[in-house]
Amino acid sequence: MKLAKWAHDLTESLLAESLPRRWAHSQQVYAQALTLAPALGADAELLAAAAIAHDVGYAREAMDTGQHMIDGARYLRDVVGADARLCSIVAFHTSSPWEAAELGLSETLAEFGPAEQGLVDAITYCDLTSSPTGHLVDPAARLVEVLDRYGPEHVVYRAVSAARPELLARVHRVRQRRAEAAQEKIS
Ligand SMILES: [Fe+2]
Repeated sequence: MKLAKWAHDLTESLLAESLPRRWAHSQQVYAQALTLAPALGADAELLAAAAIAHDVGYAREAMDTGQHMIDGARYLRDVVGADARLCSIVAFHTSSPWEAAELGLSETLAEFGPAEQGLVDAITYCDLTSSPTGHLVDPAARLVEVLDRYGPEHVVYRAVSAARPELLARVHRVRQRRAEAAQEKIS
């Protein structure tokens, strides 16, 4: 778990003290990524690393455009020289393309493309099953909580409203994939 340990230490240094809730959330997202390891095979460590680091764009050191997925991916690429696939997962996680479109940042996001659908599904599943305070949560309830927190005037509200069907479809695909992997193990 070399890459994951590196990402864990980096994220801890960026979030633990200044943004403890984000750090608690990130640790739960990481724990969820570990549960997907049997379904991900060779990409399990990459997902774990992306999971712990997915919200580094909220750190003061990373903030730039205000779109935290892009800011996190840029920080990982430009400041610490992270693996390109890791940066891509962080860039495209959860509602990122919708948020980027709202902010006129779709071309900027495309710097990190093309997105790898299976890994983006997986990180979205991990993010949406982890509450802001670091507990397991139902993804549909989590999306309602996000919408309530931001309110209809906010860009995140509009992006998440538009993205919701696809985000829940991603969760469904990951659950299916996890069930299939468990089945293969039994048979
Ligand atoms: Fe998150």
